[in-house]
Amino acid sequence: MHEQQLGFGIDIGGSGTKGALVNLHTGEFVGERIKFETPKPATPEAVAATAARIVKQAGWDGPVGITLPGVVRGSTMLTAANIDPSWLHTNIHEVFGAHLGDRPITFLNDADAAGLAEVAYGNPQAKSGAVIFLTLGTGIGSAFLVEGKLFPNTELGHLFVDGEEAEKLASSGVKKSLGLSYQEWAPRLEKVLSEYERLFNPTAFVIGGGISRKSARWLPLLHLATPIIPATLLNRAGIVGAALAAREPDYIAD
Ligand code: BGC
Repeated sequence: MHEQQLGFGIDIGGSGTKGALVNLHTGEFVGERIKFETPKPATPEAVAATAARIVKQAGWDGPVGITLPGVVRGSTMLTAANIDPSWLHTNIHEVFGAHLGDRPITFLNDADAAGLAEVAYGNPQAKSGAVIFLTLGTGIGSAFLVEGKLFPNTELGHLFVDGEEAEKLASSGVKKSLGLSYQEWAPRLEKVLSEYERLFNPTAFVIGGGISRKSARWLPLLHLATPIIPATLLNRAGIVGAALAAREPDYIAD
């Protein structure tokens, strides 16, 4: 396969740091996904060393795209709700450049990456209209997509709904930690989505994250005027979006 058709993405999550080579025509992985535990504490140095192990194991020497769970602007993270606070004072290009060597490195928010991947390879409804893409995981990540074009760094997981941050009410992390059934969790998600609907009036919600695989269990429990569409790329989305952004950094206007 021609070099230009390939990209490499790394998704830094709360528990795992995963990377893979991606065929940018199809959005499929080429070869294995490589996964290591995210180091604890997940400082920039430690995570950069893990990223370097992944890239080395894959034998890849081209550009790399990396997702982060926070607001990313240039070489800086501006928020760090679910990652070590030391990221806020770090030049991420410098730290990762020292580990990954002299190659282009593109950083972007994890939900933005997943949203871009869904636009490029997923459900066609993700790329038409004014779409709010959400990832439900440890937190709630969001990407605003207008006709497939990204408005980066939205943080809807931190919007207050009923006096509580949305991600503390309705992420799948909360579902797990409180041991909620789908019947118990769905009204929480509905409350959050209703508030997003009231404020932003999207044409559709597209919902990703691991829990989108089980959408048959919770989608029928939600009652909203706005269509809710499960994402199709599942756990692949972050890596694929990062690989895409690394090849086409203009995707993420700063
Ligand atoms: C962060 C977002 C991130 C989301 C999902 C939130 O806590 O603030 O930037 O996209 O978690 O990881």
